Amino acid sequence: MTQDELKQLVARAALDYVVEGKIVGVGTGSTARLFIDALAEIKDRIPGAVASSEDTRTRLLGHGIKVFDLNEVSDIPVYIDGADEITAEMHMIKGGGGALTREKIIAAVAQKFVCIADGSKLVDVLGRFPLPVEVIPMAQAYVARELAKLGGTPVLREGFVTDNGNVILDVKGLQIVDPVDLESRINQIVGVVTNGLFARRPADVCLLGMESGVKTFTAD
Ligand code: A5P
Repeated sequence: MTQDELKQLVARAALDYVVEGKIVGVGTGSTARLFIDALAEIKDRIPGAVASSEDTRTRLLGHGIKVFDLNEVSDIPVYIDGADEITAEMHMIKGGGGALTREKIIAAVAQKFVCIADGSKLVDVLGRFPLPVEVIPMAQAYVARELAKLGGTPVLREGFVTDNGNVILDVKGLQIVDPVDLESRINQIVGVVTNGLFARRPADVCLLGMESGVKTFTAD
């Protein structure tokens, strides 16, 4: 199976987690896009969705799925999104698509985070994928210097502005042995909006697309 077919597999499997009559939180990225296409088939069973990016909002609306502002919603039973890397502890790196801040906000509100990913995303240690950090533009140089002190090499994502009007520094060369601690430390740097470590609020369920089918695992 190709990587796209594996993504397709988990995107469809995630439909089982959508709660009838309830708003669903929807992530961003190529796997989330496939999930949105699948969600369209059962759109009459839900009042609508909350979107983690403008891209996701546009795709949901294109399928005739109502999009709610998060401030209008307090109950999100499930948030479904992809990941750039995930460990068996359900810690993730996210933000390859630059939507990490809105993704993290919806994940915080949701009762259950269902991660959908092809098998290549499963890793023992996070960090081979450069860690995205969303930064207020005027703080870019300062934050880059502070990130370098943590042992990484920050690289500005050229020509990219987030949905929130900020820039992204992709931090290469980190071996993230304690993701919970590093997530907090990076978020303490003044000028950082948030970083792409999802460890303090990990996924609850991961649907991993493998040659043998969908492998479901949960945090211990
Ligand atoms: C978007 O900002 C990201 O967090 C995505 O969820 C992540 O990059 C996974 O994307 P793919 O599904 O395209 O691999």
